[in-house]
Amino acid sequence: MQNVETISARKVLDSRAEWTVEAELNGFFGSAPAGASKGKHEAKAVCVDKAVEFINNTLGKNLIGLPLSQGKIDAVLGKNMVSIGENGATALSFAAYNCIWNSKPLPKKLVFPYPLGNVFGGGAHGGSIDIQEVLISPLGAKTFPEAIDVMSKIYHLLKKKLIKDNVFRGTNDEGALTGDVEFSTLMEYLFKTTSANGCRIGLDMAASGFWNGKKYVYKQEGTSRTSKEQIEYVVDIAEKYNLFYIEDPLHEEDFEGFAELKSRLKKVLIVGDDLTVTNTARLAMAIKSHSISSMIVKPNQVGSVTHALESTALCKKCGIVPVISHRSAETTDVTIARMALDAEIPFVKFGVADMRVAKLNKLLRIWSNSRNKVMAKI
Ligand code: PGA
Ligand code: ZN
Repeated sequence: MQNVETISARKVLDSRAEWTVEAELNGFFGSAPAGASKGKHEAKAVCVDKAVEFINNTLGKNLIGLPLSQGKIDAVLGKNMVSIGENGATALSFAAYNCIWNSKPLPKKLVFPYPLGNVFGGGAHGGSIDIQEVLISPLGAKTFPEAIDVMSKIYHLLKKKLIKDNVFRGTNDEGALTGDVEFSTLMEYLFKTTSANGCRIGLDMAASGFWNGKKYVYKQEGTSRTSKEQIEYVVDIAEKYNLFYIEDPLHEEDFEGFAELKSRLKKVLIVGDDLTVTNTARLAMAIKSHSISSMIVKPNQVGSVTHALESTALCKKCGIVPVISHRSAETTDVTIARMALDAEIPFVKFGVADMRVAKLNKLLRIWSNSRNKVMAKI
């Protein structure tokens, strides 16, 4: 096994034109994404300058000479999480992963994920609806390129429709479309268009973002809902628009409410993101209370590839569908695309347009170069 020979870090820009940490290990890179609607229980970032300085002046020296093992490197990062933050740790953990990935052959048979793309946005990412993300996934596609083709076709159809109706208002933080359109009008259109194209709709409600401690306050809609009413509302829209996926339909502490939704919507993926924050302890709580059928995996919520893959493995063991996901501020780092293949994760939530295509293009490139490949069984 190779050893860690060189380590360095610097500031680079992310898609919000904010500084983030880029780490370099043996000539391989990793950079940290950043969220705008973060879960309360996520690992905490530190100031970018502080993380860079700590890697360059202290931590790098401690890591040099260590065997090139993800587990060993991530264990050291974990011990230094307070100084390095999840941002420094994620960048370095990604750099190690990319270095290790490069040193081993690709698996003989590759299982490709289905893309799950944010086509219309609101909430904390900017836009005219309270719900953060309206997602689509081309579940009828037979190949990864076909899936990307269908997803972008629908993105363009929706964009044309918004422009034609004179309601288009550009794109938001995740490259999703925004516009002055009511949620029901948008959903009617998407339901018709996705159904005609072998595609299904999902939502990331990111409900903690509009929970005020007593009610879900839908500012744009000018209404609010109690927890009970929110559950009825979610059941209603799931049935009306044949939703296959609902992320964070309730706030991040409501394990019981999630469980009720899961038992009422047996055919819909009830997905934890802010609820579970990729953390095995939170996931264990969700498993115990039967709260979720699917979970978002975001390595920077825990600051470690090892921990993110442990959460993924625990999901799979318990019949919970893992979905690996970008953050609203991204770089062109493709580590999570590689992780999706490595851990056979059936869905990738990487966005549809702008610089997010780096990750989709990475998978398209691997698809085109590999002989033995199948789409995930879903
Ligand atoms: P964030 O949102 O990356 O801005 O936190 C993404 C999500 O909630 O899935
Ligand atoms: Zn989310």
